[in-house]
Order: sequence, then C-alpha cells, then structure tokens
Amino acid sequence: MERITFLGKTLKNPLVLASGILGNNAGILERVHNAGCGLVTLKSIGPAPRDGHNNPTVVDLGFGMINAVGLPTPGYDRMDAEWQALADRTFPLNASIYGGSVDEFIRVAQFVSEKEPDFIEVNISCPNSDHHGMLFGVDEKAAFAVTNAVKKVISVPLIAKLTPAAPDIGKIAKACEDAGADAICAINTAGPGMVINIEAKMPVLAFKKGGLSGPMIKPVAVRCVYDIYRAVSIPIIGLGGVTTGEDAVEMFMAGATLAGMGSAVRYRGIEVFDQVNRELDDWLTAHHTTREAIIGAAHDRRHLP
Ligand SMILES: Cc1cc2nc3c(=O)[nH]c(=O)nc-3n(C[C@H](O)[C@H](O)[C@H](O)COP(=O)(O)O)c2cc1C
Repeated sequence: MERITFLGKTLKNPLVLASGILGNNAGILERVHNAGCGLVTLKSIGPAPRDGHNNPTVVDLGFGMINAVGLPTPGYDRMDAEWQALADRTFPLNASIYGGSVDEFIRVAQFVSEKEPDFIEVNISCPNSDHHGMLFGVDEKAAFAVTNAVKKVISVPLIAKLTPAAPDIGKIAKACEDAGADAICAINTAGPGMVINIEAKMPVLAFKKGGLSGPMIKPVAVRCVYDIYRAVSIPIIGLGGVTTGEDAVEMFMAGATLAGMGSAVRYRGIEVFDQVNRELDDWLTAHHTTREAIIGAAHDRRHLP
C-alpha cells in the first residue's frame, strides 16, 4: 500500500481507526498501527471526569451497532500515564476532544496540543450546553465558533468531526473550513435510534436511545462525504460503515482522502486493517487505477442533473 502525506504527515496507508473504539492505551494503539492502521484516533477526551452511561451501552444488531456509551472520560488533565506512554509513540496520532461550551473546548484543546499529537480532532457532534442542548455540529455559527476558537490555541492541524444530524452537512463543513479547519472527518454515529427487546418489553440500551454505526449507516455516510466534498476543498476522512476494501473505494469515490473504521474493528478484529488494505490494493490493481485517481470520481459531470 502506498505511503500518503496527509496534512504534512506521512501515513503508511489511508486507513484510520475511528475515535472511541479501542480507548487511549498506547500499547493497544501501537498494536493497531502494527496491524495495518495508518492513523489511530484517541477516544474523545473531555473537560472533566465523566462515568458515561450504565450498561448495556453497546449492542450488536448484526447489520450494525447501537451505542450509548455517554462519552466517559477521565478528563484531559487526569491522563498523566496515558500521555507519558503516548509521548514515546512510534505511530501517527489523532487526538479527539470534546467540550460542553466553547470555553471548555479551548481549555481541553490547549492542554492536548501541548502533548503534541499529530492532529487534533474536534468532536462537534456532542450536546452543546451553550446552545441549550443542541449539537455544535448542527448549527453553522456554533460550528464556526468552536473551530475558530480551537484553531487559535493549538499548534497542530485541526480535523472537525461532523454529525449526520445536520440538515445540510455541506454548510457545516464549509463553516469549519472558513474557521480554519484543515480537514473534515465524517460521520459520527447516526440517529439516535432505539431497539426494543419485545420479550422484555424494554429498550435494549440502559440509556434507551443510542447512536447507530456499522454497515446500516454506510449510505448515510457516503451521502455526507459526497455533500462535504462539493462544499469544501480541504481533505475528508470518510467514516461510517466501512468494513471492506470495496467500502473504502466507495468512500474515496464520494470524495474522501482517507477511510476510517470503527464498528468493523469490533466485527473483524484489528486484523481488519491488513485485510482492508489488501482488499483495496486488489481492487485498485484489478481496475488499473490508484486511490488518488478515484478520489471524487462519483462527482463526474456526466452524472450531474
Ligand atoms: C462504542 C462506540 C464509541 C464511540 N465513541 C466515540 C467518541 O468517543 N468520539 C467520537 O468522535 N466518536 C465516537 N464514536 C463514533 C465512531 O468514531 C464513528 O464515527 C462511528 O461509529 C461511525 O463509524 P463506523 O460505522 O465505522 O463505526 C463511537 C462509536 C462507537 C460504536
């Protein structure tokens, strides 16, 4: 698989571990990198210790997963052991952060930037207390405000992670680009959804509602990446339901530069990275093409109305 330059850093391939799937342990993340992952993302780090929701928090539905983990975090300033281990890393690192207000985002971003990750991913897909429980990622002004504020206090490239809940995700992406984002990551989980255990007559999740991920959301993710590609000129990490090399091809054709995987790691294990790299290489070779040549290929003018 080709080496890639992404926002000035060299990645060994175009596959990314999504945030929140394997935690923040340096040893585990190194194994994921050794297993064929080009860029690993930390679980979102928040402003204060948070337990998250009660179990069950993640349920496999076969065609995807539903989760309400509830953003558990030790808090950015209580991760000394993790930061120390990550300082000696030999792999590219994307640090995901969240906050409940612009000020909280600034505080977490400033601290995390000093730990020198390769990128900071701003998770604007979580509830926004400044805007009465809305998501930063569904409001252009709020998305601009967070991105702009974080950009000013960090010294590494900024990736804005968007939610498919936005009525027009292209406009949110453009607001982030205008505010200084260097790349977009899309999408976070879809929904929220609910699944009911009809024998128990109750929702399967303790929190009742949860975010959807895995194969069932791939068409939503592909549509979002497609819309974002038309709205911005910065690179996109395409994420949501990617499980095979052909899924990655679909993301690239929609406009993604890199392809992320979350639920697929739970389905196929960390071996999924090597497998998808091979499947992707096989597809590209069989079609006498390259990843770069197919980025945005689905936007060919012939298909425009
Ligand atoms: C159990 C679980 C926990 C997650 N935690 C986070 C998180 O902390 N921060 C974040 O930005 N996204 C989080 N996500 C969303 C994923 O990073 C990803 O955007 C989403 O699952 C879609 O990709 P997938 O279909 O490949 O899983 C989580 C997803 C799952 C399933």
